[in-house]
Amino acid sequence: MSKLALYGGKPVRTEGTNSKWPAWDDLEKEALCRVIDSGTGQYGIGEEGVKFEEELAEWMGCKYALLTINGTETMAIALKAGGVGPGDEVILPPMTFIACPLSILLAQAIPVFADISQHNLALDPAEVEANINGNTKAIMAVSLSGVPCDMDAMVEIAQKYDLLLLEDIAQAQGSEWRGKKLGTIGDIGSLSFHGAKTMTSGDGGAIVTDDKGLRDLCQSYRQFGSTFEGSEHDYAVTGGNYRPSEFVSAVCRAQLTKVHDLIAKRNESAQILDEMLAEVPMIKALELPEQVTACSYLGYVMHYDQEAAGGIHRNVFAKAVCAEGTSVGFGYPQLLNEMPLMAGPMRERDKARFYGRKIDYASQEFPQARDLIDNVIITVHQSWLLSDEQAVRDIGTAIQKVAENIEELKDETPD
Ligand SMILES: Cc1ncc(COP(=O)(O)O)c(C=O)c1O
Repeated sequence: MSKLALYGGKPVRTEGTNSKWPAWDDLEKEALCRVIDSGTGQYGIGEEGVKFEEELAEWMGCKYALLTINGTETMAIALKAGGVGPGDEVILPPMTFIACPLSILLAQAIPVFADISQHNLALDPAEVEANINGNTKAIMAVSLSGVPCDMDAMVEIAQKYDLLLLEDIAQAQGSEWRGKKLGTIGDIGSLSFHGAKTMTSGDGGAIVTDDKGLRDLCQSYRQFGSTFEGSEHDYAVTGGNYRPSEFVSAVCRAQLTKVHDLIAKRNESAQILDEMLAEVPMIKALELPEQVTACSYLGYVMHYDQEAAGGIHRNVFAKAVCAEGTSVGFGYPQLLNEMPLMAGPMRERDKARFYGRKIDYASQEFPQARDLIDNVIITVHQSWLLSDEQAVRDIGTAIQKVAENIEELKDETPD
């Protein structure tokens, strides 16, 4: 009689997750009503926007925060304000969300991918340095799932080659490196308040910086290119309209009052999983280096060791874990350099215009990133991390159970 639910055994869990997501309640309702009841129309980013920017800057521990409509435009604006433009190259990881190369293209610059380190899922400093040339203008340091990039190395390289250091912390709000919040260590940081992020207003984004010049230029790019000096109609750069409505700002303000609790809950869940999985031979939780003084665990990431699993592929293992009534995933299904935007036949003219030279993205190889997405990474989604303790323990139990009965999977082949 089989033990694994995949073959008819009793599953560990039957009722799925039980987290309420987004974590919106009366506080967000009151915030929205406050805007309606204010009786004033929005001008600029409005009173709620101004207040949220002050509150966010204080929470982040930096001088300035600027709200925008999302975390993609934040990065395009930040790059433009940082002097990145046509023909300039920006180094980024190949394993991240499409918004990253898109924002570079929106600044009319060239995405240059550098391989990542498996231990933190982020840019490998040696690979960054190997890709720097006379056209390189910026590094986009992306921190995924709350796990910080090696910020010591990124700062050192940016300073050595005089590059703009943009931190994409869409997935790492609240994570810290040496006691400083991510996003405030490089020249400029970018946050997203999209529905899958730690704090959410549905959509929304913010730029953070200590640099007044950068802040002022970002403000111009956010609002029609206005200089905010002299006449109201002095427009000086090719900005757009990236201001969020006051409803978004009001919801963000409510979310900021809860962010500590949301991150604390994720940390409790991560700790439970760390403990439950410590003795599972083929699973290794990501080890955070001592410089990481806080991790916001947007998701929980593990490494799978196929050899320790007797050759059983990760996908087979994960399928069996899911069959136990729980859920694990693999992060991104494809590397960015292989996507149609970068490698496909689409919009050849656009590509030639953007890149100014032929870059054969499709044939580039990133062995660390490739291995991670194909064989190694296993993730637990935030909807589980935010569920009650039993749900989190059931994920741990499902993984332990599959590990203990792995022999049953020996004839399975990955889908
Ligand atoms: C790593 C990363 N960067 C940037 C973004 C873009 O943010 P937005 O969806 O707010 O444009 C996202 C998520 O959506 C993301 O996961």
